Amino acid sequence: MKFRGRKVLVTGGAGQIGSHLVAALVTSGAEVSVADNLWRGKKSNLAPAGMPLIDLERCFHEVDLTDPLACAKVTEGCDLVYHLADVVAGINYVFGNQFSLFNSNLRIDANMLHAAIANRVPNYVYVGTACSYPAAKSVVGADGSTPKFKEDEVYPALPESSYGWSKLMGEYHAELAMNEGLLHLGLLRFHNVYGPHCELSPEKSQVIPSLIRKAERYPEEPFVVWGSGKQRRAFVYVSDIVDALLLVAERGLDKGVIQIGPDYSTSIRELAETIVKISGKPIRIDYDPTRREGDGDRAADWTKAREVLGWQPRVSLEEGLARTYEWCRTALAGGTDCP
Ligand SMILES: NC(=O)c1ccc[n+]([C@@H]2O[C@H](COP(=O)([O-])OP(=O)(O)OC[C@H]3O[C@@H](n4cnc5c(N)ncnc54)[C@H](O)[C@@H]3O)[C@@H](O)[C@H]2O)c1
Repeated sequence: MKFRGRKVLVTGGAGQIGSHLVAALVTSGAEVSVADNLWRGKKSNLAPAGMPLIDLERCFHEVDLTDPLACAKVTEGCDLVYHLADVVAGINYVFGNQFSLFNSNLRIDANMLHAAIANRVPNYVYVGTACSYPAAKSVVGADGSTPKFKEDEVYPALPESSYGWSKLMGEYHAELAMNEGLLHLGLLRFHNVYGPHCELSPEKSQVIPSLIRKAERYPEEPFVVWGSGKQRRAFVYVSDIVDALLLVAERGLDKGVIQIGPDYSTSIRELAETIVKISGKPIRIDYDPTRREGDGDRAADWTKAREVLGWQPRVSLEEGLARTYEWCRTALAGGTDCP
């Protein structure tokens, strides 16, 4: 698909992934609008260096997508919808709000899909998560190896959290619509995404921004890693995710789920040590084993992403962390891109 002149809606476009996608789509010549209730997103993410990417008065819709009428309105006349809005947060929030999170995501995803179909939006992209893989399989193997999931290993399903379930329901629901020819569907399933425009608050942040915040605020905020630090994740930098989102609309429609992430994992202990190194501070790392740590280990077999999309990860964890740290440092000092 060529983006020039196309009307593209990005839900969750003020969030971490969405705001970078908006920038890339604008560069490709698309007419972009954004729908976001700013629960975790920020308008400043859409105005890097104070320069709005889109006309924020006309093309930014501050709406709650649990409202079906809002979904109907924002999808009118679109050629393509990237549906990224959902409740996403760190492990503490996810496990402390299982019902409300599941309830919100199911409603948002169902409303958006219905609205896109009713408004005859021809092309639709939905994004799932590696948190949907079965918890029992998301562990280090007896030989110490990392499980490298293929897309279909998500079934039989038994994710650990309601977040993982909600995102899987969204995939399944959208696939049913595609199977009946109601729209063309791009389906991506992401591993752990990080980069600039991440959420930094103690309440809602994910592991990388949370550890960077603790490093920057040390010693006022102690540098405590939740869990043993042995838990492992496959981290993928946000620009690699944007590449995949553009590619799926060009080459990946109606090709089933495509997983995006590296084929190796990194322990949270290694991550914490790297962040401390980047900070340049003499930080003591403490571990709190009473805190929940989630799945043990997981990574991606990204053969399908390479074969169907021509995708490959381009930013190393070291480089991505350095860039993210720099952005977080500025944001925590109050010097974000706010217009
Ligand atoms: N960040 C990750 O590690 C990761 C991994 C796998 C999948 N994903 C998926 O990618 C998508 C984007 O994630 P992200 O990392 O950019 O998170 P994010 O929180 O930065 O973006 C989600 C956006 O959705 C908005 N939103 C939430 N509830 C809403 C509602 N009721 N109405 C309107 N907008 C609402 C938030 O304000 C936010 O801007 C999500 O669907 C998420 O499930 C993310």
